Amino acid sequence: MKKIAIAMVAIAAITGLVGCGAPAKPKIGLSFSDFATERWPRERDQMSTILKDAGYEVLVQEANHDAKLQNDQVKNMVTQGAKVIIAVAEDGDALATAVDEVAKKGVQVIAYDRLIKSPNIAAYVSFDNVDVGRNQANGVLAAMKQPPKGNIVLLGGSPTDNNAHLFRKGQMEVLQPLIDKGDLKVVADQWVENWDAANAKKVMENIITATNKKFDAVVASNDGTALGALEAMKAVGMAGKVPISGQDATEAGCNSIARGELTVTILKDTRKLTPLACDLAVKLAKGEKITDLTPTPLADLTGDASKTGTVPCKFLQVFQVTKTNLKQLVVDSGFQSYDGVYKDVPNPPAK
Ligand code: BGC
Repeated sequence: MKKIAIAMVAIAAITGLVGCGAPAKPKIGLSFSDFATERWPRERDQMSTILKDAGYEVLVQEANHDAKLQNDQVKNMVTQGAKVIIAVAEDGDALATAVDEVAKKGVQVIAYDRLIKSPNIAAYVSFDNVDVGRNQANGVLAAMKQPPKGNIVLLGGSPTDNNAHLFRKGQMEVLQPLIDKGDLKVVADQWVENWDAANAKKVMENIITATNKKFDAVVASNDGTALGALEAMKAVGMAGKVPISGQDATEAGCNSIARGELTVTILKDTRKLTPLACDLAVKLAKGEKITDLTPTPLADLTGDASKTGTVPCKFLQVFQVTKTNLKQLVVDSGFQSYDGVYKDVPNPPAK
């Protein structure tokens, strides 16, 4: 009896048939840090559709900002049979441990949008994150009284997200020369744990108190945290008066631009990043070689000279969005809906 059962399992494994004869689909895992930022659930849905249409079973896990949980979830997806995983890292250092472990079993992990600091990742696909930072700083400076002079506040993203440091690198490329000249003075420099809007609000409340409202611009790193900060600024009459940056061209962020509160956001067309990652995942799942990626030293990507090895990368272009080009870049391209962006906005542009 036992021999027959073993033989049946072996036949099922060879033919790919299970249960009542349906072919077993190969599995691809999607591992997300959280679903709090607008983009992640959208991208989960886009990736799931593409991969299911390509004939894969998709396993999805969300770590709710818990780096240890994310490691467990990745290993668990491997136990369930995933041979390829696309991962948005909560913590680029912590997730490297899980990647190193599953890579030994031949599992391929694609770092999606955020770097996982391991030379064993199969690929890293993202946007030009340093350019995001440059565009944030430039957007804020352009909205200040010219030439830009005064006190600035820096609001970084989650310190465990390598992107947060790349955004800061780009921001400082633009700001540092003006700081060195004495035109700009950094009066507060904070990072926002988990990219959380409520944390950003609290941080901004403290900055408002500590500086006695004496700042002229805020370089914040995404829409969620900028809108949190704006809530605190609104309470003291500073919203719409002090320029502030965001990122992601979220519906709420774009609506805030249309209402004249958020100054600038950065459009990263995730509709191009998801198919790219899925295409790589499918190629890897089929055992094909991946081409068109640029080997990039981990030391460059992390700013940490002790990190050795290179990873195959691709970075997509980013676009600065202000009130002037909001409709054209965000609405006309179909990235956000007209009704969402111009909700309760007096005198919106024609549809
Ligand atoms: C992403 C941003 C996002 C942020 C918070 C970053 O790594 O690049 O697009 O707003 O994480 O989720």
